[in-house]
Amino acid sequence: MGRIHRLPVSVVNRIAAGEVVERPASVVKELLENALDASPSRIDVALEQGGVALVRVVDDGVGIDADDLPLAVTAHATSKLRVAEDLERIDTLGFRGEALASIGEVARLVVRSRPRDAGTTPAGASITVNGGRIGDVVPDAGAPGTTVEVHQLFGNVPARRAFLRTPQTEWSHASEAFVRTALAHPGVAFTLSHNGRRVHDLPATTSWRRRISDCFGNDLGDRLLDVEADDGEIGLGGLMGHPQDDVAAGRLQHLFVAGRPFRDRAILHAVQEGYRGLLLGGRHPVIFLRFDMPPEMVDVNVHPAKMEVRFRDPQRLYRLVLAALRERL
Ligand SMILES: Nc1ncnc2c1ncn2[C@@H]1O[C@H](COP(=O)(O)OP(=O)(O)OP(=O)(O)O)[C@@H](O)[C@H]1O
Ligand SMILES: [Mg+2]
Repeated sequence: MGRIHRLPVSVVNRIAAGEVVERPASVVKELLENALDASPSRIDVALEQGGVALVRVVDDGVGIDADDLPLAVTAHATSKLRVAEDLERIDTLGFRGEALASIGEVARLVVRSRPRDAGTTPAGASITVNGGRIGDVVPDAGAPGTTVEVHQLFGNVPARRAFLRTPQTEWSHASEAFVRTALAHPGVAFTLSHNGRRVHDLPATTSWRRRISDCFGNDLGDRLLDVEADDGEIGLGGLMGHPQDDVAAGRLQHLFVAGRPFRDRAILHAVQEGYRGLLLGGRHPVIFLRFDMPPEMVDVNVHPAKMEVRFRDPQRLYRLVLAALRERL
């Protein structure tokens, strides 16, 4: 008898869930990305107890057909990719077909949807997943669009629940995830509530400065300088702080590519170099940068949580950022 056996799907999903869902902030991020991929005009987010008790995301996007609901919550099922080559040119925020299945594995997940296009199924429907057990599709009246609720995150995974911090700390991570995503999509209106209290109300705008002001206050937004650069193929746009408006490490430094916030030490190093000689030791500039480039120049399929991306030519980005900032200072 061999000792190697195939793992049951439930175990495979539980392992995958560990990579995608770390805390309520990961749920907020995944649900916001799903809502954004559905071409919405507005997204409303509500959390209870830092998101541990409830994360609810409501969008007015294209919706999901009732027949598709079981697949939407099944691992490796997606409407966003078909063939391996599609991975070379990803133009949606999601593509792995894993997020809802992972969340349904470690919480109680309810997806309610009604397709926006009246030509298809006019009625709405919902499906519930509880600790990986997928329930039946049931009729559910509601406005066009999709509502996703995640109740009692890690309620069935004591080992994971033990790693959650206080609701206050989880709330602060979750609201940061909300703000990062909302910054990347100024054209969509967002709201965020916590324990019934409205915390952010961000109207849709074409101005990135407006969205930044709505997130962080007019005092900050009004003082930022515009940055713009272009090397023929890669575009760079954004806003930068005056050297005297410096901040501690890790705060108010935001990078985006293809509608996605990302982290990148090398680019932040270029930013710091751009301000060289103008900052006090240990301080950092406020920076909001957005890169525009053809999808084949950036690979987002690096890690399940998609927080890091790989660029085909990182040196080129470094030079572009450095030159653009130096020119403004
Ligand atoms: N808010 C939504 N509006 C419309 N369709 C949705 C929404 N949320 C999920 N879906 C559908 O359910 C599918 C599964 O979502 P899920 O997040 O699990 O995977 P994904 O977004 O395709 O990939 P990833 O795992 O990278 O997020 C999506 O491909 C999409 O078709
Ligand atoms: Mg997704």
